[in-house]
Amino acid sequence: MPTMGALHEGHLSLIRQARRDNDIVVVSIFVNPAQFSPGEDYARYPRSGQRDRALARQAGADMVFEPNAADMYTRGFQTSVEVGKLTKHLCGLTRARLFGGVCVVVAKLFEIVRPDIAYFGQKDYQQFVIISQMVRDLNMDVRLKMLPIVRDRDGLALSSRNQYLTGGQCKLAISLYQALRAGRAAIKKRKAKNARTVERLMHSAIPHASGIRIEYLQVCDPDTLDRPRKITRPVLLAGALWAGKTRLIDNILVR
Ligand code: PAJ
Repeated sequence: MPTMGALHEGHLSLIRQARRDNDIVVVSIFVNPAQFSPGEDYARYPRSGQRDRALARQAGADMVFEPNAADMYTRGFQTSVEVGKLTKHLCGLTRARLFGGVCVVVAKLFEIVRPDIAYFGQKDYQQFVIISQMVRDLNMDVRLKMLPIVRDRDGLALSSRNQYLTGGQCKLAISLYQALRAGRAAIKKRKAKNARTVERLMHSAIPHASGIRIEYLQVCDPDTLDRPRKITRPVLLAGALWAGKTRLIDNILVR
């Protein structure tokens, strides 16, 4: 179960499921420099080693693998793992290094730990479909499981980055999930039949408040992440919202 630490109930739900499914559970904690672009929050990303180790163990980890950057990226490191079209959508449009960095580190972790099953959260849906593609394309001998998003009482998806939010920003950040739900309701009630209408509706659910900025709010095909014109099959509604300097993502699958 790979993580970047600052563990919360979202991570712990994955560890607990891994505990139920397996004989041995390995949790990795590594804030991966390769997946941050210059100017992103690598330096200030929350690090809470001792607390994380205790939480991981309580949730059922047998081992916590906590490498440092110099061990993972030895001098002269020069290999990349690049997945194609799937990385050109959603978060890939603005976070240039994200998925290349994720694929390299996850490939390395799979090779080091040799897991039978690896666990991921739907919270990072695009990450999951990209890793699935990598595993298929490179014949990696691992099964992948995706588990549901864990939210707080107000619906805010738990994230290590929620620690950056002020109380006021937290309240505004909830509008991301509300917008996705509004989109889902419109599709379910057949009030919106094409992607443009749903996207417009989702945009209108985000308050015009200072510091709040929508990066994307989009209807996607859950497999290809392409944007359909008409909604005739299950879709993914995905959003990224800035609250001040904090970037939050969320999504809902509409079946
Ligand atoms: P991190 O953000 O720490 O997340 C680790 C795993 O926990 C991911 O699979 C993520 O989707 C899942 N997760 C995070 N918040 C969740 C929530 N609220 N509910 C359910 N699952 C949640 O994702 C990464 O780290 C990194 O990119 C990593 C895969 C470790 C590679 O560096």
